[in-house]
Amino acid sequence: MSDILIKLGGGLITDKSRLRTVEQSRIESVARVIAVLLDEGHSVRIVHGAGSFGHLKAKEWSLSAGADPLRLDDQLVAVNDVRMDMRKLNSIVRDVFESLDINVSAHPPSIWATGTGPSFAGDLSRFESIPQNTVAMTFGDVVDCPPPDQFGILSGDDLMVRMASELNISHAIFLLGDTEGLLDRPPDQTGAELITLWTPERKISGKHDSAQDVTGGIFLKIASASAISKHVENVWLIDGRQPQRVLQLIRTGKTRGTRVIG
Ligand code: IPE
Repeated sequence: MSDILIKLGGGLITDKSRLRTVEQSRIESVARVIAVLLDEGHSVRIVHGAGSFGHLKAKEWSLSAGADPLRLDDQLVAVNDVRMDMRKLNSIVRDVFESLDINVSAHPPSIWATGTGPSFAGDLSRFESIPQNTVAMTFGDVVDCPPPDQFGILSGDDLMVRMASELNISHAIFLLGDTEGLLDRPPDQTGAELITLWTPERKISGKHDSAQDVTGGIFLKIASASAISKHVENVWLIDGRQPQRVLQLIRTGKTRGTRVIG
């Protein structure tokens, strides 16, 4: 049986450009696939991103840069708002899973993690053993940080890195919302082709939409996937709009997407 760790990218489960807008049907089709995986006896841990429930407001108040003494009061309001928005997104995701009779144990990082980047502090043993028919779930969030920052953004990609290295994981899968995997040029350019096997020698010419994205976009994802592949044999970027590819991967060892070997 496989121990599967899945990141639901914020760009998959929300409309990244429209504040607090979920892509309900995409969440549902991923959840149906996960229900099958659980039925087949695999364990599933889920990290989800923020999309328009996190990035837009975090960007407006520069939350990823930490405390700014000139506008700290407003920032602290925004910290609280983004945390609440992330809880809301998490409860929407959870409701979808629970409607399929999957139990969810959710762990908001603002409660148990401090600091940002892959060396954040926090006890991951809460994700170690999961009861049957249950998924453990966490998400990118605003977390407390040591002074002078006071707060910062912990990306779901960093959570993936740590969970993959500290837990027993056989498959780490990043589900993307706008591409089939890693492409050899930005997805909006014509003729972009899927890279089916990525190794660090291969440069990528993506673009990081820093107008919307306060974490690292595709560059953080590929760096995270590469770090994970030091511990985990099967690391993949897959089109989350085609979640049956996850089933195909688990059942056959192959699918359409990008396999990452660090
Ligand atoms: C970002 O998490 C968290 C916040 C902005 C609060 P992620 O970096 O995991 O989110 P996505 O997947 O890019 O949306």
